[in-house]
Amino acid sequence: PQVDISADDSKVTARLPTGDSVEVLLYGATVISWKSNSGQENLWLSQKAVLDGSKAVRGGIPIVFPVFGPPPQNHATSSLPQHGFARSTRWEYLGKSTSESGALSRGGDDSVKLDFGLSQSQLSPESRKAWPYDFSLVYSVTLGKDGLQTMLNVRNEGKESFEFQMLLHTYFAVKNISNVSTSGLAGTSYIDKVLDATEHSSSSPTLSITGETDRVYKSLKQDTTSILQDDKPRLDVVRDNLTDTVVWNPWKEKAKAMGDFAPDEGYMNMVCVEVGSVDGWQKLEGGETFEGGQLVKSHI
Ligand code: BG6
Repeated sequence: PQVDISADDSKVTARLPTGDSVEVLLYGATVISWKSNSGQENLWLSQKAVLDGSKAVRGGIPIVFPVFGPPPQNHATSSLPQHGFARSTRWEYLGKSTSESGALSRGGDDSVKLDFGLSQSQLSPESRKAWPYDFSLVYSVTLGKDGLQTMLNVRNEGKESFEFQMLLHTYFAVKNISNVSTSGLAGTSYIDKVLDATEHSSSSPTLSITGETDRVYKSLKQDTTSILQDDKPRLDVVRDNLTDTVVWNPWKEKAKAMGDFAPDEGYMNMVCVEVGSVDGWQKLEGGETFEGGQLVKSHI
């Protein structure tokens, strides 16, 4: 059996002989579905997510670049929209490569890597004006048996240096948020954007989501953050060359207030665990590159 790949004008779909599958929208290079071979969907996608390219996708894995959150004043990103332009620009499908020996090919099972590109010339005139740097991004989505790797490569194609932040804003699907906890976030400090936007120290090994949550964990020493459902491991998120992680759940009121969030109770079935580099800035001189991303393993 072969890896089955289909690409049309709006998305690329890949299915492994094991049954694992992934769907990537060209708009934002947003991964909108990732299913394990059991048929289990691992990503949450709003029933009202806008997929026609007129608005960033509510769900899946939107890519945040070159700024996280509302841009600060007096910075080169200050005229950009919240979370930058990568999630709301159409990317190009660069092609696939299959492998029987990559990090995600276990026991001879195939894996497939899909590459997507975005560079300055593909930006809207407004985005190009707001962030006038000569850059290129290559986003690689690798599907293996029970695992998905997503890596973002950033290159400064120009002569002038630039600063950026990046984050993979992954919406994970969970059965019931009441019995979900995350582990692997201790031993560092975090900014609590719900409480007071100040720094707190993170000593507890696990975090349960019991209300609106918006925390930015900085400089994590361990690589893995796990999502547990009913005290059992559900998903492992392994950071690659990234040290920050945001945990976000809008909870009842905020979910209801978002026009593209559905159903209203959907906040019970999702949690965002977002790996990134968002504390300060990454700086690239002309010709330099940076690569960071995640490897996610599903236990079901
Ligand atoms: C999270 C931020 O990463 O994204 C939150 O920490 C924000 O503060 C959330 O509300 C969603 O952002 P948006 O722009 O997709 O509604």
